[in-house]
Amino acid sequence: MPDFQVWISAHQLRFEDVLRKLLPAADIAPQRLHAAMRYSVLDGGKRVRPLLAFAAGELAGADITRVNYAAAAVELIHAYSLVHDDMPCMDDDVLRRGKPTCHVEYDEATALLVGDALQSLAFQMLSDTTLTADPARQLKMVKLLAVASGSRGMAGGQAFDLASVGKQLDVSELEFMHIHKTGALIRAAILLGAYCGDTLSDAHFDKLDHYGKCVGLAFQVVDDVLDAEADTATLGKTAGKDADNDKPTYVTLLGAVDAKKMAAELHQEALQSLSEFGDKAQRLRELADFIVMRKY
Ligand code: IPE
Ligand code: IPE
Ligand code: MG
Ligand code: MG
Ligand code: MG
Repeated sequence: MPDFQVWISAHQLRFEDVLRKLLPAADIAPQRLHAAMRYSVLDGGKRVRPLLAFAAGELAGADITRVNYAAAAVELIHAYSLVHDDMPCMDDDVLRRGKPTCHVEYDEATALLVGDALQSLAFQMLSDTTLTADPARQLKMVKLLAVASGSRGMAGGQAFDLASVGKQLDVSELEFMHIHKTGALIRAAILLGAYCGDTLSDAHFDKLDHYGKCVGLAFQVVDDVLDAEADTATLGKTAGKDADNDKPTYVTLLGAVDAKKMAAELHQEALQSLSEFGDKAQRLRELADFIVMRKY
Protein backbone atom coordinates (compact mmCIF):
# COMPACT_ATOMS: atom_id res chain seq x y z
CA MET A 1 0.00 0.00 0.00
CA PRO A 2 1.55 3.36 -0.98
CA ASP A 3 2.26 5.94 1.66
CA PHE A 4 -0.79 8.12 2.48
CA GLN A 5 0.79 11.32 1.14
CA VAL A 6 1.62 9.55 -2.12
CA TRP A 7 -1.95 8.22 -2.31
CA ILE A 8 -3.43 11.69 -1.70
CA SER A 9 -1.20 13.44 -4.23
CA ALA A 10 -1.82 10.82 -6.90
CA HIS A 11 -5.60 11.09 -6.51
CA GLN A 12 -5.54 14.89 -6.35
CA LEU A 13 -3.52 15.09 -9.56
CA ARG A 14 -5.61 12.49 -11.37
CA PHE A 15 -8.90 14.02 -10.19
CA GLU A 16 -7.87 17.51 -11.33
CA ASP A 17 -7.69 16.09 -14.82
CA VAL A 18 -11.10 14.42 -14.42
CA LEU A 19 -12.65 17.77 -13.42
CA ARG A 20 -10.86 19.62 -16.23
CA LYS A 21 -12.47 17.29 -18.75
CA LEU A 22 -15.93 17.26 -17.15
CA LEU A 23 -16.33 21.04 -16.96
CA PRO A 24 -17.49 22.86 -20.09
CA ALA A 25 -14.56 24.40 -21.99
CA ALA A 26 -14.07 28.14 -21.54
CA ASP A 27 -14.29 28.77 -25.29
CA ILE A 28 -17.83 27.35 -25.51
CA ALA A 29 -20.68 29.88 -25.15
CA PRO A 30 -21.49 31.35 -22.71
CA GLN A 31 -17.72 31.76 -22.39
CA ARG A 32 -17.65 34.03 -19.36
CA LEU A 33 -19.86 31.72 -17.29
CA HIS A 34 -17.82 28.67 -18.29
CA ALA A 35 -14.56 30.48 -17.50
CA ALA A 36 -15.94 31.44 -14.07
CA MET A 37 -17.06 27.86 -13.40
CA ARG A 38 -13.59 26.57 -14.22
CA TYR A 39 -12.00 29.33 -12.14
CA SER A 40 -14.10 28.30 -9.12
CA VAL A 41 -13.54 24.55 -9.36
CA LEU A 42 -10.04 24.03 -10.75
CA ASP A 43 -6.57 24.69 -9.32
CA GLY A 44 -7.35 24.72 -5.65
CA GLY A 45 -8.94 23.01 -2.72
CA LYS A 46 -7.88 20.00 -0.75
CA ARG A 47 -10.45 17.75 -2.47
CA VAL A 48 -11.30 16.15 0.88
CA ARG A 49 -14.77 15.02 -0.23
CA PRO A 50 -13.51 13.30 -3.41
CA LEU A 51 -10.70 11.67 -1.40
CA LEU A 52 -13.29 10.31 1.03
CA ALA A 53 -15.32 8.99 -1.90
CA PHE A 54 -12.22 7.29 -3.37
CA ALA A 55 -11.33 5.72 -0.03
CA ALA A 56 -14.90 4.47 0.52
CA GLY A 57 -14.99 3.25 -3.09
CA GLU A 58 -11.77 1.29 -2.55
CA LEU A 59 -13.29 -0.25 0.57
CA ALA A 60 -16.37 -1.31 -1.40
CA GLY A 61 -14.41 -2.70 -4.36
CA ALA A 62 -15.71 -0.01 -6.72
CA ASP A 63 -14.47 0.75 -10.21
CA ILE A 64 -12.58 4.03 -9.97
CA THR A 65 -14.04 5.48 -13.18
CA ARG A 66 -17.47 5.20 -11.56
CA VAL A 67 -16.29 6.81 -8.35
CA ASN A 68 -14.83 9.68 -10.40
CA TYR A 69 -18.34 10.78 -11.39
CA ALA A 70 -19.73 10.51 -7.86
CA ALA A 71 -16.72 12.37 -6.45
CA ALA A 72 -17.00 15.06 -9.13
CA ALA A 73 -20.71 15.57 -8.41
CA VAL A 74 -19.99 16.17 -4.72
CA GLU A 75 -17.02 18.45 -5.43
CA LEU A 76 -19.12 20.54 -7.85
CA ILE A 77 -21.81 21.01 -5.19
CA HIS A 78 -19.10 21.89 -2.67
CA ALA A 79 -17.51 24.43 -5.05
CA TYR A 80 -20.93 25.99 -5.70
CA SER A 81 -21.53 26.23 -1.94
CA LEU A 82 -18.21 28.07 -1.52
CA VAL A 83 -18.94 30.52 -4.35
CA HIS A 84 -22.29 31.42 -2.78
CA ASP A 85 -20.93 31.34 0.80
CA ASP A 86 -18.39 34.03 -0.18
CA MET A 87 -20.91 36.41 -1.76
CA PRO A 88 -21.65 39.77 -0.07
CA CYS A 89 -25.14 38.57 0.90
CA MET A 90 -23.58 35.70 2.87
CA ASP A 91 -20.06 35.80 4.40
CA ASP A 92 -18.76 38.58 2.16
CA ASP A 93 -15.29 37.16 1.57
CA VAL A 94 -12.70 38.30 -0.96
CA LEU A 95 -10.24 35.39 -0.84
CA ARG A 96 -10.82 31.69 -1.53
CA ARG A 97 -8.26 28.97 -2.21
CA GLY A 98 -5.60 31.67 -2.38
CA LYS A 99 -7.36 33.57 -5.18
CA PRO A 100 -9.93 36.39 -5.33
CA THR A 101 -13.42 34.97 -4.76
CA CYS A 102 -15.61 34.38 -7.79
CA HIS A 103 -17.76 37.50 -7.36
CA VAL A 104 -14.61 39.64 -6.98
CA GLU A 105 -12.83 38.17 -10.00
CA TYR A 106 -16.03 38.21 -12.10
CA ASP A 107 -19.18 39.83 -10.64
CA GLU A 108 -22.05 38.94 -8.33
CA ALA A 109 -24.50 37.88 -11.00
CA THR A 110 -21.90 35.59 -12.53
CA ALA A 111 -21.12 34.09 -9.10
CA LEU A 112 -24.80 33.37 -8.59
CA LEU A 113 -25.01 31.66 -11.97
CA VAL A 114 -21.79 29.72 -11.38
CA GLY A 115 -23.41 28.19 -8.31
CA ASP A 116 -26.62 27.41 -10.19
CA ALA A 117 -24.78 25.85 -13.12
CA LEU A 118 -22.38 23.81 -10.96
CA GLN A 119 -25.29 22.38 -9.05
CA SER A 120 -27.05 21.35 -12.26
CA LEU A 121 -23.87 19.87 -13.66
CA ALA A 122 -23.46 17.78 -10.51
CA PHE A 123 -26.84 16.14 -11.04
CA GLN A 124 -26.18 15.72 -14.75
CA MET A 125 -23.02 13.86 -13.73
CA LEU A 126 -24.95 11.47 -11.52
CA SER A 127 -27.71 10.77 -14.00
CA ASP A 128 -25.83 10.71 -17.28
CA THR A 129 -23.16 8.14 -16.30
CA THR A 130 -23.09 4.57 -15.03
CA LEU A 131 -22.32 4.58 -11.32
CA THR A 132 -23.58 1.08 -10.60
CA ALA A 133 -25.17 -1.78 -12.56
CA ASP A 134 -28.40 -1.38 -10.57
CA PRO A 135 -30.62 1.50 -11.84
CA ALA A 136 -32.64 1.57 -8.60
CA ARG A 137 -29.45 2.07 -6.63
CA GLN A 138 -28.33 4.83 -8.99
CA LEU A 139 -31.63 6.65 -8.44
CA LYS A 140 -31.10 6.30 -4.70
CA MET A 141 -27.67 7.92 -5.15
CA VAL A 142 -29.15 10.89 -7.02
CA LYS A 143 -31.65 11.37 -4.21
CA LEU A 144 -28.95 11.06 -1.59
CA LEU A 145 -27.01 13.98 -3.06
CA ALA A 146 -30.20 16.00 -3.57
CA VAL A 147 -31.16 15.64 0.10
CA ALA A 148 -27.60 16.33 1.29
CA SER A 149 -27.46 19.56 -0.76
CA GLY A 150 -30.95 20.90 -0.12
CA SER A 151 -32.90 22.54 2.65
CA ARG A 152 -32.55 19.44 4.85
CA GLY A 153 -28.83 19.40 4.17
CA MET A 154 -26.17 21.95 3.18
CA ALA A 155 -28.49 24.78 2.05
CA GLY A 156 -30.53 24.38 5.23
CA GLY A 157 -27.37 24.53 7.33
CA GLN A 158 -26.33 27.70 5.54
CA ALA A 159 -29.76 29.24 6.24
CA PHE A 160 -29.34 28.37 9.91
CA ASP A 161 -25.84 29.88 9.85
CA LEU A 162 -27.14 33.18 8.43
CA ALA A 163 -30.02 33.29 10.90
CA SER A 164 -27.56 32.79 13.77
CA VAL A 165 -25.38 35.84 13.19
CA GLY A 166 -24.98 37.73 16.46
CA LYS A 167 -26.76 35.02 18.45
CA GLN A 168 -25.52 32.66 21.08
CA LEU A 169 -26.42 29.08 20.19
CA ASP A 170 -26.37 26.14 22.58
CA VAL A 171 -24.36 23.01 21.83
CA SER A 172 -27.22 21.15 20.17
CA GLU A 173 -28.12 24.11 17.92
CA LEU A 174 -24.53 24.58 16.85
CA GLU A 175 -24.21 20.86 16.19
CA PHE A 176 -27.37 20.98 14.06
CA MET A 177 -25.93 23.85 12.03
CA HIS A 178 -22.54 22.20 11.45
CA ILE A 179 -23.93 18.74 10.70
CA HIS A 180 -26.07 20.29 7.99
CA LYS A 181 -23.93 23.00 6.42
CA THR A 182 -20.77 20.88 6.23
CA GLY A 183 -21.45 17.38 7.53
CA ALA A 184 -24.19 16.47 5.05
CA LEU A 185 -22.02 16.70 1.93
CA ILE A 186 -19.09 14.92 3.56
CA ARG A 187 -21.36 12.09 4.61
CA ALA A 188 -22.84 11.94 1.11
CA ALA A 189 -19.36 11.76 -0.46
CA ILE A 190 -18.52 8.67 1.59
CA LEU A 191 -21.80 6.88 0.91
CA LEU A 192 -21.76 7.70 -2.79
CA GLY A 193 -18.22 6.33 -3.13
CA ALA A 194 -19.28 3.14 -1.37
CA TYR A 195 -22.47 2.76 -3.42
CA CYS A 196 -20.32 2.58 -6.57
CA GLY A 197 -19.06 -0.79 -5.28
CA ASP A 198 -21.00 -3.85 -4.25
CA THR A 199 -19.12 -5.60 -1.48
CA LEU A 200 -20.68 -3.90 1.55
CA SER A 201 -23.68 -5.00 3.61
CA ASP A 202 -26.35 -2.70 5.08
CA ALA A 203 -24.64 -3.02 8.45
CA HIS A 204 -21.39 -1.88 6.84
CA PHE A 205 -23.19 1.16 5.38
CA ASP A 206 -24.45 2.07 8.85
CA LYS A 207 -20.90 1.95 10.20
CA LEU A 208 -19.62 4.03 7.30
CA ASP A 209 -22.40 6.55 7.76
CA HIS A 210 -21.52 6.94 11.41
CA TYR A 211 -17.90 7.47 10.45
CA GLY A 212 -19.12 10.14 7.99
CA LYS A 213 -21.23 11.85 10.60
CA CYS A 214 -18.24 12.08 12.96
CA VAL A 215 -15.68 13.30 10.43
CA GLY A 216 -18.22 15.68 8.88
CA LEU A 217 -18.84 17.42 12.19
CA ALA A 218 -15.15 17.28 13.14
CA PHE A 219 -14.33 18.94 9.81
CA GLN A 220 -16.34 22.06 10.67
CA VAL A 221 -15.15 22.15 14.30
CA VAL A 222 -11.58 22.24 12.95
CA ASP A 223 -12.61 24.87 10.36
CA ASP A 224 -13.86 27.04 13.23
CA VAL A 225 -10.60 26.56 15.16
CA LEU A 226 -8.46 27.34 12.10
CA ASP A 227 -10.52 30.48 11.37
CA ALA A 228 -9.61 31.70 14.86
CA GLU A 229 -5.99 30.50 15.04
CA ALA A 230 -4.41 30.21 11.58
CA ASP A 231 -3.28 32.99 9.26
CA THR A 232 -4.74 34.07 5.93
CA ALA A 233 -1.72 33.00 3.87
CA THR A 234 -1.85 29.45 5.24
CA LEU A 235 -5.63 29.15 4.92
CA GLY A 236 -5.93 30.71 1.47
CA LYS A 237 -9.07 32.42 2.83
CA THR A 238 -9.50 35.34 5.23
CA ALA A 239 -8.61 34.34 8.78
CA GLY A 240 -10.71 35.74 11.63
CA LYS A 241 -13.77 36.03 9.39
CA ASP A 242 -16.13 34.30 11.84
CA ALA A 243 -15.37 36.84 14.58
CA ASP A 244 -15.64 39.72 12.07
CA ASN A 245 -19.05 38.44 10.97
CA ASP A 246 -20.18 37.73 14.55
CA LYS A 247 -20.81 34.04 13.85
CA PRO A 248 -21.38 31.53 16.61
CA THR A 249 -18.73 28.79 16.30
CA TYR A 250 -17.33 25.99 18.44
CA VAL A 251 -14.57 28.40 19.45
CA THR A 252 -16.99 31.08 20.68
CA LEU A 253 -19.14 28.46 22.40
CA LEU A 254 -16.54 26.19 24.03
CA GLY A 255 -13.22 28.03 23.67
CA ALA A 256 -10.39 26.78 21.47
CA VAL A 257 -9.10 24.19 23.96
CA ASP A 258 -12.44 22.41 24.34
CA ALA A 259 -13.24 22.74 20.64
CA LYS A 260 -10.00 20.86 19.91
CA LYS A 261 -10.90 18.28 22.54
CA MET A 262 -14.23 17.80 20.85
CA ALA A 263 -12.58 17.31 17.46
CA ALA A 264 -10.28 14.71 19.06
CA GLU A 265 -13.27 12.85 20.53
CA LEU A 266 -15.08 12.82 17.20
CA HIS A 267 -11.87 11.57 15.61
CA GLN A 268 -11.75 8.61 18.02
CA GLU A 269 -15.42 7.86 17.49
CA ALA A 270 -14.88 7.91 13.71
CA LEU A 271 -12.01 5.44 14.03
CA GLN A 272 -14.07 3.16 16.27
CA SER A 273 -16.83 2.92 13.71
CA LEU A 274 -14.29 1.51 11.23
CA SER A 275 -13.01 -1.20 13.56
CA GLU A 276 -14.65 -4.17 11.88
CA PHE A 277 -13.34 -3.29 8.42
CA GLY A 278 -9.74 -4.14 9.35
CA ASP A 279 -6.92 -3.07 7.04
CA LYS A 280 -9.28 -2.30 4.17
CA ALA A 281 -10.37 0.92 5.91
CA GLN A 282 -6.83 2.20 6.35
CA ARG A 283 -7.33 5.13 3.94
CA LEU A 284 -10.50 6.21 5.73
CA ARG A 285 -8.59 6.12 9.04
CA GLU A 286 -5.80 8.21 7.54
CA LEU A 287 -8.35 10.67 6.13
CA ALA A 288 -9.93 11.05 9.57
CA ASP A 289 -6.45 11.84 10.94
CA PHE A 290 -5.90 14.31 8.09
CA ILE A 291 -9.24 16.07 8.67
CA VAL A 292 -8.59 16.60 12.37
CA MET A 293 -4.88 17.42 12.18
CA ARG A 294 -4.88 19.61 9.07
CA LYS A 295 -3.41 23.11 9.23
CA TYR A 296 -5.52 24.64 6.45
C1 IPE B 1 -14.36 24.86 3.35
O1 IPE B 1 -14.21 23.54 2.92
C2 IPE B 1 -15.78 25.12 3.70
C3 IPE B 1 -16.29 24.26 4.76
C4 IPE B 1 -17.25 23.43 4.56
C5 IPE B 1 -15.72 24.35 6.07
P1 IPE B 1 -12.78 22.96 2.58
O2 IPE B 1 -11.82 23.25 3.70
O3 IPE B 1 -12.92 21.54 2.18
O4 IPE B 1 -12.35 23.83 1.33
P2 IPE B 1 -11.43 23.48 0.08
O5 IPE B 1 -12.28 22.69 -0.85
O6 IPE B 1 -10.25 22.68 0.57
O7 IPE B 1 -11.05 24.81 -0.49
C1 IPE C 1 -19.12 27.08 4.91
O1 IPE C 1 -18.81 27.30 6.22
C2 IPE C 1 -19.98 25.90 4.71
C3 IPE C 1 -20.41 25.87 3.30
C4 IPE C 1 -19.83 26.53 2.33
C5 IPE C 1 -21.53 25.05 2.97
P1 IPE C 1 -17.82 28.54 6.41
O2 IPE C 1 -18.44 29.82 6.02
O3 IPE C 1 -17.20 28.41 7.76
O4 IPE C 1 -16.69 28.16 5.32
P2 IPE C 1 -15.40 29.03 5.04
O5 IPE C 1 -14.70 29.18 6.36
O6 IPE C 1 -15.87 30.32 4.46
O7 IPE C 1 -14.61 28.18 4.08
MG1 MG D 1 -20.35 30.55 5.84
MG1 MG E 1 -17.53 31.41 4.83
MG1 MG F 1 -15.21 28.75 8.22
